[in-house]
Amino acid sequence: MGKRIHILAMGGTIAGKAGDSTATTGYQAGAVGVEDLLAAVPGLQEVAQVTGEQLASIDSKDITAACQLQLVKRVRELLLSAEVDGIVITHGTDTLEESAYLLDLVHFADKPVVITGAMRPATALSADGPLNILDAVRVAAADSARDRGVLVVLNNEIHSARLVTKMSTTAVETFQSPVGGAIGAINDGVVVFYHGAELHHLPNALSVSEKLTSQKELPYVPVLYGHSDDDGRLVKLVAENGAKGIVYAGMGNGSIPERVEAELAAAVEQGIVVIRASSSISGMVTKAEASYEEAGFIASGLLNPRKARLLLQVALVCGKSAADLRKFLA
Ligand code: SIN
Repeated sequence: MGKRIHILAMGGTIAGKAGDSTATTGYQAGAVGVEDLLAAVPGLQEVAQVTGEQLASIDSKDITAACQLQLVKRVRELLLSAEVDGIVITHGTDTLEESAYLLDLVHFADKPVVITGAMRPATALSADGPLNILDAVRVAAADSARDRGVLVVLNNEIHSARLVTKMSTTAVETFQSPVGGAIGAINDGVVVFYHGAELHHLPNALSVSEKLTSQKELPYVPVLYGHSDDDGRLVKLVAENGAKGIVYAGMGNGSIPERVEAELAAAVEQGIVVIRASSSISGMVTKAEASYEEAGFIASGLLNPRKARLLLQVALVCGKSAADLRKFLA
């Protein structure tokens, strides 16, 4: 008897429908249901016993915290279920890395959770979705994928949820991990990992995931994108409009223009938690300037701004302190 893999379909281009087979833009994301999505993958049932469930049918740019929390809740149920050996999520690529990271933060079991998507709609010539689904199921069914947290599988590669990011607007090889690279591959259907497992879930992930499932929304934590001549007025604006945290995507090693730094320091004084991240794609944000530490800003380490935002939201829900966050990101 094969492994029992349950697929949660969220929509996205992988389930996109275009007017003709040459179209790779201008399609409707999330228009193909999970049954049709799975029927388009030859040999799927030979790899595992696959079941499907439609959880959402959205273009992932429109995902809300409520929808992310629904996903966390359903994955939690499946992780606790004795009827399921692995979970695959089909998801739009635009926010795939965010959902992957959120799920990874609260992953408490050794069961594989694999997220995949596609860059070409289901109706396109050379659609990449069917092979990505087949590969994702292969990974979810692999013993070697156990105890590795949440994995992202596209284009025959396996990436960690923490480090992967969408690099290209349109290329099928869009998902890459600029720091560290892919952690494995699916070669001719064979799942290979290059390294041992490294887990990055939160301490007490089981109870944190339970806490999250009781939430209807997450605290307001905007990402502000740094640029030349930034005068900090957006920091002031969000601070006055209920932000509980701010992620500032600074330049290079999380550098912040002086005028913005002053506004962010004032925000910390008001009790707003500030994370310094970077708009650069690769590299780690370190403590850098002494004034940042004195002001109480937290360096994002290897997290990109969007993932740092999710971490901060979860930390705020769970009442974690700035010191806890610093320790987790170090
Ligand atoms: C989406 O993110 O839902 C649309 C884009 C894609 O899946 O590639």
